[in-house]
Amino acid sequence: MKVGVIIVGVRGATASTMIATACAPRSGDEARYLLSSSSAARQLDLVPLADIAWAGFDTMRESWPETLTRHGVLSPQPHAARLESKVQMLDAVSFESDHATAVEGVRPPSASGRVVLEQLRAQIRAFKERAQVERLILLHLGAPSVLPASDRWPDTGAELMAALGRGELQTAPVYYTVAAILEGAAVIDYTASATLEIPGILDLACIERVPLAGRDGSTGQTLMKSVLAQAFSTRRLKIRGWYSTNILGNHDGLVLSDERYADVKKIDKTALLEQILGESVESHLVDIRHYAPAGDRKEAWDAVDFETWYGGSGELRINWRAGDSLLATPPILDLIRFTEYALRLGSIGMQTQLSGFFKHPLGTSERRYLKLAEDLERYIGREIEKTSR
Ligand SMILES: NC(=O)c1ccc[n+]([C@@H]2O[C@H](COP(=O)([O-])OP(=O)(O)OC[C@H]3O[C@@H](n4cnc5c(N)ncnc54)[C@H](O)[C@@H]3O)[C@@H](O)[C@H]2O)c1
Repeated sequence: MKVGVIIVGVRGATASTMIATACAPRSGDEARYLLSSSSAARQLDLVPLADIAWAGFDTMRESWPETLTRHGVLSPQPHAARLESKVQMLDAVSFESDHATAVEGVRPPSASGRVVLEQLRAQIRAFKERAQVERLILLHLGAPSVLPASDRWPDTGAELMAALGRGELQTAPVYYTVAAILEGAAVIDYTASATLEIPGILDLACIERVPLAGRDGSTGQTLMKSVLAQAFSTRRLKIRGWYSTNILGNHDGLVLSDERYADVKKIDKTALLEQILGESVESHLVDIRHYAPAGDRKEAWDAVDFETWYGGSGELRINWRAGDSLLATPPILDLIRFTEYALRLGSIGMQTQLSGFFKHPLGTSERRYLKLAEDLERYIGREIEKTSR
């Protein structure tokens, strides 16, 4: 059984690091880092990493050694050759509002909405045939999209297709998503885009009977914030202020230094605090900065100010530093393997058992990471029980 994973943003720091390390020979360290290789999850017969065929879209035109050198995470030798042989490159699209066109000058497609969609679908079909894969997953690891206001989103699959036919919703993540769903692929959105929140996309996924998972991977600061906010809340400490800074030196940081795209991301980094606390915070700031010397090593500072009994007060200061792409690799591989399992089982629509992987999980109002992690454990337990019956 082979599974095809098509990545939007395959030359990005996260995607290139993930594929190269997933394909590299390793000495049995999977169970240490992958939840999907834990002794419980192993009973579910999840797809082995070696059985994944990789393909991807990217607007960046360069060679794999250039990609790896630019990111500075993995050495071009031996990883570039591995990527060259393992990744099938497909032709990317980008529209006026997409970062690649608006900021990086990539030319948008000259064809109309439906033609672009057909071209994407044909490429996905060709990959499926050539790689001889049974099932497909589309994984978003590109730049977040800027969508029209939600009152202009189509409600049904039919309205969505009509809107695309009229040339509306012209942003690449929407087109990649619709093309993939129509080809029977599951879709994972690891970016901050609201694509999977468009009701017409959810409806289309239900019509085509495919699972979805999103949005915006949670790997560092927001994960910690969710855990700490729950602790403050249950201990009845009142948070007066929370100031989160993000310092990124990689290409994602460059994208997020543009306010149009940063604003999408800030929603995901901001909303969860008050949702978890159940009350408003006097002063909550989230700041994202591009600082080239940091490279892929992301740094986050959090300043938390809180009140205690009888006018008492306290402060918590946290400094998080980690190589972003290697940090994100295991949870993304887990997501791929659990989503493929859901697709194989015939699960349809938003997969809320995977909510713990996201900053802004869709299909649930729960934001407490530890609670969401327990939900996944329970799901695994239930599935083991079903398979052993
Ligand atoms: N690494 C993490 O820990 C993490 C966590 C949560 C979310 N994310 C999100 O995942 C995404 C990827 O992160 P990254 O650090 O790899 O970013 P990156 O900027 O290195 O990679 C994004 C890639 O997408 C490509 N791209 C842009 N527009 C495209 C289009 N229209 N079609 C095809 N390709 C396109 C770019 O050329 C680039 O190579 C970002 O949106 C980021 O915010 C990453």
